[in-house]
Amino acid sequence: MSGAFDLCGVPLRGPVLNGSGTFDAIAARRTFGDRLLEEFPFDAFVSKTITIEPRQGNPPPRLWESPAGLINSIGLPNKGLSGFLSGDLPQLAELPVPLVVSVMGFSRDELGALVAAVGERDQVAMIELNVSCPNVETGLVMGADPAETAAAVGAVRPLTDKPLIVKLTPSAGDPAVAAAAEGAGADAVSLINTLRGMALDPRTRRPWLGAGTGGLSGPAVRPVALAQVASVAASVSIPVVGMGGIASGRDALDFLDAGAACVAVGTENFRDPAAGRRIARELAAVSRNERGFSAGRTRFSQDRPKSPAKVGKTVK
Ligand SMILES: Cc1cc2nc3c(=O)[nH]c(=O)nc-3n(C[C@H](O)[C@H](O)[C@H](O)COP(=O)(O)O)c2cc1C
Repeated sequence: MSGAFDLCGVPLRGPVLNGSGTFDAIAARRTFGDRLLEEFPFDAFVSKTITIEPRQGNPPPRLWESPAGLINSIGLPNKGLSGFLSGDLPQLAELPVPLVVSVMGFSRDELGALVAAVGERDQVAMIELNVSCPNVETGLVMGADPAETAAAVGAVRPLTDKPLIVKLTPSAGDPAVAAAAEGAGADAVSLINTLRGMALDPRTRRPWLGAGTGGLSGPAVRPVALAQVASVAASVSIPVVGMGGIASGRDALDFLDAGAACVAVGTENFRDPAAGRRIARELAAVSRNERGFSAGRTRFSQDRPKSPAKVGKTVK
């Protein structure tokens, strides 16, 4: 690790992360053995979202391929907090990059319990708050409303010194939510999560997915993601992790130019498990050839020309 690049003060060897839930590092280690550690595809690893209690996830079918996209209704199956800490964390701690643990609570207390328990583990570098779920106390989706987001982040902020990344819901195209997260003490924001979508079974004409609807991801969402990343990056001064349909180094550069400090690769990992490394290589090449600097070796916010989004903000 060069240490020349960092996210929230955590040194990273480059700017390419994975999107939560899109790369199973434990299964990949079983398949590829120690080769996975030698050629690990990402510069930081983001875990699948965990909840306090174990979850089975949604009924099948859970996936539908749409043109240039994927609709999933996985439903956050996971071992729960104690299963994660005893079963998965020791294995994820062997990865050669900093670990980000993604957590989701159905109330502020649950979120707080997750943050406190995960935050006290030395193996964990950062915590990502997945705020896409309804708060059972208020009925509001935590991340859909600035006040709810501020209350959730404010409630957990005192519980850990670890950097907190708030993963915004797709409705966070409203930059007020990102600004509320920043105001309540978030160290970074990440976006976009999946967009709600539906597919019909060609024979029965009923919804294909067991849960009825799911989340759309992949290249189909990239222009939406880029617009949201640009809008949020222009509204906050904390780093933005941009994602949504990134499948090449040029796609990644688009997000960085729109104001992201780092990028994350999601759906593309299902097509190509080595996509993260390939995209990092392509990004370095396209940056070097066209800009005269090597992506991931500099801190973008300081060394790169101002993004169109930031320039736009200055002019207004
Ligand atoms: C199968 C699947 C599972 C996902 N699971 C999670 C999850 O557990 N937590 C989360 O915050 N996002 C989850 N996501 C969203 C991704 O992390 C990412 O935000 C989204 O897919 C957009 O990026 P992409 O178009 O590159 O996939 C999931 C996405 C997919 C496709």
